[in-house]
Amino acid sequence: MPLLSLRSNRRSIRHALALATSATVLLLAGCGGTTPATTAQAPAPAAKADANAIHPQDWPELTWPLADDPALEKRIDALMAGMSVEQKVGQTVQGDIASMTPDDVRRYHIGSVLAGGNSDPDGKYDAPPSAWLKLADAYYAASMDPASGGPGIPIIFGIDAVHGQSNIVGATLFPHNIGLGATRNPDLMRQIGQVTAVETRTTGMEWTFAPTVAVPQDDRWGRTYEGYSESPEVVASFAGKVVEGLQGVPGQPGFLDGHHVIASVKHYAGDGGTTHGKDQGDTQVSEAVMRDVHAAGYPPAIQAGAQTVMASFNSFNGVSMHGHKPMLTDVLKGRMHFGGFVVGDWNGHGKVAGCTNDNCPASFNAGVDMLMAPDSWKGIYESNVAAVKSGVISMERLDEAVRRILRVKLRLGLFEAGKPSTRPLGGKFELLGAPEHRAIARQAVRESLVLLKNQDRVLPLAPKQRVLVAGDGADDLGKQSGGWTLNWQGTGTKRADYPNADSIWDGLKQQVTAAGGSAELAIDGRYRTKPDVAVVVVGENPYAEFQGDIATLAYKPGDDSDLQLIKRLRSEGIKVVTVFLSGRPLWVNREINASDAFVAAWLPGSEGAGIADVLLRRPDGSVQHDFKGTLSFSWPRTAVQYQNNVGQKDYDPQFAFGFGLRYADNGNLTALPEVSGITGEQGDAGVYFNKGKPTAGLAMRLSGVKQSELPAVTFPAVLSDASLKVSAIDHKAQEDARRLQWSGSGKANMALLSTRPLDLTRESNGDVQLLLTVRRTGAIAGPVGLAIGCGQGCEGRVDLAPTLGAIAEGEWQTIGVPLKCFATAGADLSKIERLPVLESATALDLSVSRIALGTGNDAKTVVACATR
Ligand code: BGC
Ligand code: BGC
Repeated sequence: MPLLSLRSNRRSIRHALALATSATVLLLAGCGGTTPATTAQAPAPAAKADANAIHPQDWPELTWPLADDPALEKRIDALMAGMSVEQKVGQTVQGDIASMTPDDVRRYHIGSVLAGGNSDPDGKYDAPPSAWLKLADAYYAASMDPASGGPGIPIIFGIDAVHGQSNIVGATLFPHNIGLGATRNPDLMRQIGQVTAVETRTTGMEWTFAPTVAVPQDDRWGRTYEGYSESPEVVASFAGKVVEGLQGVPGQPGFLDGHHVIASVKHYAGDGGTTHGKDQGDTQVSEAVMRDVHAAGYPPAIQAGAQTVMASFNSFNGVSMHGHKPMLTDVLKGRMHFGGFVVGDWNGHGKVAGCTNDNCPASFNAGVDMLMAPDSWKGIYESNVAAVKSGVISMERLDEAVRRILRVKLRLGLFEAGKPSTRPLGGKFELLGAPEHRAIARQAVRESLVLLKNQDRVLPLAPKQRVLVAGDGADDLGKQSGGWTLNWQGTGTKRADYPNADSIWDGLKQQVTAAGGSAELAIDGRYRTKPDVAVVVVGENPYAEFQGDIATLAYKPGDDSDLQLIKRLRSEGIKVVTVFLSGRPLWVNREINASDAFVAAWLPGSEGAGIADVLLRRPDGSVQHDFKGTLSFSWPRTAVQYQNNVGQKDYDPQFAFGFGLRYADNGNLTALPEVSGITGEQGDAGVYFNKGKPTAGLAMRLSGVKQSELPAVTFPAVLSDASLKVSAIDHKAQEDARRLQWSGSGKANMALLSTRPLDLTRESNGDVQLLLTVRRTGAIAGPVGLAIGCGQGCEGRVDLAPTLGAIAEGEWQTIGVPLKCFATAGADLSKIERLPVLESATALDLSVSRIALGTGNDAKTVVACATR
């Protein structure tokens, strides 16, 4: 059992108390300057029949920090007096740059545009900053074009500047929120918000979809790293500060000026509380837990004047948050006096009962003022216009939403601001990754590192020695930055995409050589010169949203290569310091046992050099920077310790919330238990075939004209008429792929059958693709069917022949098929049973090593097919 510092004990006790006495909003009182000490009434004993009833009077009553502004209201009255229903509805619609042109903005009087994580100027994730600014100018000009016949209302452009202006090449990339939580430094959050605002303004946007104030309770959730902490107290202490950094402080000079952007507090509410940590799932908690845990970040953010709140994808006890009127209207706008507007999430309205992505008056009526309708904006526009005309949406509700949106635009001074490139920071690209910005990010990296083990005080390291730097995270800027970096998943980027960044290796090399030591980089640990010490940097590869949902907290299940690397170096008598990159605490007891020191470094972003600042001594032997980070998430004892949060009953983590060693501490650990707790196979979501094998819950079957459903378990497996033969071959390792040979003697297929129907509807909301890593041998003689099946007679099929024919023969390649293509071709994505089916009637020789979900960034070739 690691030592638990007093520091963390005090916190846990306070937090435990807070959770236990949920009737009193105790935890909101203890921290964070702007948070009021609110005492709410104990909830009235709710009638059993209505377990879902919400009691707004039990929520904190807040004061909106901006006084009513009669002059502003008069301007709004004047504007609205001249607006048609169409023009008003247009203001409430947000489309995505990949699906909506400036001309659409002009024609439909659209109020807002967003750049989704995978949407970029000209479809290039590495588009230069100038291309972004040009795009912002074009949308702005369209919104103001007198030729549209509209009132000339400037558009607002939103983007996920979630760890810096992280979609743009050259921006300062801050550690993801999980790392920031470990700093426990609210003032630093304000500075980070400011820098993010400034860099965002250079490229023309005036709105970021941040901060995320989720309070993740199950670390299997793929968005755990977007949350600051599992503790509502820590989240609440940061939320207001970030908002102040982004927007400025109400009543003070600079508020919402050209150096600031509007914030979007998200995702309201309960995003971090879904069952099993399933992204976009259902949060089954009491109203008190919703308020005291999941919604803890909203009061301080609202009191800091947050201009927008984003509704969440999840449901609350079965009711989709996008349609939850009591929570959106009665609590948020009514009780908490939120005076900005509510924006929806990416087609989030489509999840409301009775709605589709194109048609959902219910979400608007529930209180979402602006629907995020990336590719569905036209349908939403048309259906909402019709709903207003038929009275399904009242004119009063429409006016309320438009008024809220116009208030925000007027507060931002947008009507006078001119086009984005002419605003104070427009085009000042030298501010992207400016040295003073990077210095703040580097400080954040230093303060975020959490030291879990320091056997015999191996750290801090003398710089004047032979240092080996190994592991696949050592010199990989994409890996150290995680998801939401340059593209949605943060995958498929290259070194040149990070002109203003240092890898962890860069920082170590620089300081070691400057001090007269020698540094060697060997990712696989095979050094040329035997080192005195090794720094091994390993961890999770980038992911975002549901693609990061995992089945257990095991680190890289089935792949022990990192552990072997650490052990090998150790066995050669080399001290090993492991630096672990991850978006969540994972079960790594074996890796910790094998290492001399172990550092949780989270997802540090562009300033990998901050790690050398802490690990290395000064040349004179003194400590440069001590560790400062403390866990904001509890570290699990086993791979199945999912609900493992401070204050919970039977709380028994490996390293408690608040843990973090300092150099003065005794950092010795006795061996940690190495029993993972996993029973049976638990496959990761979205991986269907890996290293030549179907993953848990799937089985390979071959079917032909004469024989069907032949289980392919041992290889070669051959259909009785020899129309299809499957054998085991090597791709990167021994027998890690399968070779499928069709003779052409009759139609035959290989299918991966699922033991239970899979629901892929949420994965198809976005640009998720089915990725196949394949190799073609020989010519393609006829159509190659790739289908996903959904029961008798239900399937969606595309022809892979043109794509396979075009890839170089004999070369392994990953091809992608947008999931939407299968839906268009007839698949019901809510009940997939065969995933996928590969079929041919003519001769074909195709090898396959992996089949999984991913995005276009992970594919070399994307199959062209109809998506609607
Ligand atoms: C995410 C949001 C994000 C939005 C726009 C959604 O899928 O849930 O956090 O702001 O997309 O990219
Ligand atoms: C977008 C993201 C969005 C996601 C929703 C992606 O295509 O790029 O911004 O969050 O879809 O599933």
